[in-house]
Amino acid sequence: MKKLCLILLCLFSMLMSVEAKQFVNITPMPKKMVVGEGTYRLPKSYTVDVAFLADSLQSEATRFVDIIRKTTGCKGKLVKSQKASISMQLDKTIAYEGYRLNVGERGIRVSASSARGFFYAFQTLKKMMPANVMAGMSVDEAQKAVPYFRAEACPEIAHVDIDDEPRFWYRGFMLDCGRHFFTVDEIKHILDGMAIYKYNYFHWHLTEDQGWRFEVKKYPRLTEVGSVASDCRMTDMEKGHYWLGKPYGPYFYTQEDCREIVEYARNLHIEVIPEIDMPGHIMAALAAYPEFSCNPEGEHKVQTYQGGVWTDVLNVGDPKAVQFARDVLTEVMDVFPGQYVHIGGDECPTNAWESNAQCQEHLASLIKEGKVKDLEKHRFRPLQSYFITQMNDHIKARGKKMILWNESVTAGGADLDLIKSTGATIFSWNPCQQGAAIAASLGLDAVITEWGPGCYYINRKQHDGEGEPVAAGTGRKSDQLPAVYAYKPVPDKVMDPNVKKHYAGVQATFWTEHVSDINYFNYLAYPRLLAVAEAAWSPEEKKDFEDFRTRFTADTMLFDLTGRLYGKHFIAK
Ligand code: ACM
Repeated sequence: MKKLCLILLCLFSMLMSVEAKQFVNITPMPKKMVVGEGTYRLPKSYTVDVAFLADSLQSEATRFVDIIRKTTGCKGKLVKSQKASISMQLDKTIAYEGYRLNVGERGIRVSASSARGFFYAFQTLKKMMPANVMAGMSVDEAQKAVPYFRAEACPEIAHVDIDDEPRFWYRGFMLDCGRHFFTVDEIKHILDGMAIYKYNYFHWHLTEDQGWRFEVKKYPRLTEVGSVASDCRMTDMEKGHYWLGKPYGPYFYTQEDCREIVEYARNLHIEVIPEIDMPGHIMAALAAYPEFSCNPEGEHKVQTYQGGVWTDVLNVGDPKAVQFARDVLTEVMDVFPGQYVHIGGDECPTNAWESNAQCQEHLASLIKEGKVKDLEKHRFRPLQSYFITQMNDHIKARGKKMILWNESVTAGGADLDLIKSTGATIFSWNPCQQGAAIAASLGLDAVITEWGPGCYYINRKQHDGEGEPVAAGTGRKSDQLPAVYAYKPVPDKVMDPNVKKHYAGVQATFWTEHVSDINYFNYLAYPRLLAVAEAAWSPEEKKDFEDFRTRFTADTMLFDLTGRLYGKHFIAK
């Protein structure tokens, strides 16, 4: 009998401890997290200790207090007192983007070494509260949006001990605004989504064959002509493809718009990386300034068909065209204060150069001067490598760094010595792992944005079930959420630390051939954006799809509140 009682007692306490394990919904999963049994309720009036913190760090607390007041009604005050409800400690031993967060009986303790670390700590804390807090809505507003939403006035937060820092320093998201345009407000909405999941770079693809979206004061026709297509293939989730049947545009961002986006992103600790794609994917610019093409007398137009690779490229053999590219980058660098400038370099056919006298002469003289190699095959490709070095000199002179797509190192005939000399960061998409391996072997940083299996191109169809809206790809297994989640950006075979250190991070990439509105954008991006965020932030060994699925399912309330459509294919039952 005694034995039976003991067994029953053990069973009971086991059950209790299972019950006590609280669900804490944080994506990306922190590096280390221990969940306690109790909860802490934020008092109606609470204090935040900011003693010894510089103003730039205190502003993170101010922003947190403001959002908590707006969403919960709890009123916070910044104080210098060790008895505060929330204490903020500067701890220089913590990694730049890392933080420690302790929620216990007596309150909350947040430590970090930078404003960004405090920002991420507060993002985590907000994520542990009811979804209206992260959504930035009062409970009333939330109930209007989702009638069954429930939350108490002052949030109860689980006891936790978190010690967190990201796996990669580069955690990016790219949006193609060349093929279809997204408004400033829509971009802010996208940035908000990125910040929830701790992305830190917004790669803004601003120019394409189908549209030039960045205002350049020295070349006004770029936006007067280049931002208008005579027609446009639109895509609607219900109707599928349809032609607009009238001009699409003018759609572009003024330099003021760009500054507004940069500032908005800065507050979310996101750096904006502008991309001006050159020397290919530049038809919209050549429609405006045909003199910089290889056949100025020919027909040049803003491309209306949304996909494809076109042979109408910049005349890199013409010093005036090269100066045009420099001038554009000058204005880009005036407007975007970040460290990086992306100059594209993907999918650039050499056909136009091959039949252009200036390019032929330019190549011959570069070979003669020993500046590029004299190749039998892919003879004209070195012209692109050389052009890249010219742009790099210009970017470097402003103290900035250049980014390129992987064709700069994977295209046949690419001059690897020249590319190595630039110190560029390589964004690798196709062949992704091969591109990254070449970049790393050259000592260049690589960012993984796999377009193929386990796809980080999150504009592709996310499922092959009936009724899925038209999109790129097949939606079969390799495009689906579990494959995206399972993809290993750094393969196990990469072991040499001198190579491994060049795997700088990952990026979710969104092309808009098939997406012309924000709802459809959200539908394809979520939840795959979360899967890439977890690859970017969480240690590989912490990843667990079933656990992720539970967290993503809980986040659907946040998506519903903020009007984000999402794919429902893998929601937990
Ligand atoms: C690319 O997908 N063309 C970078």
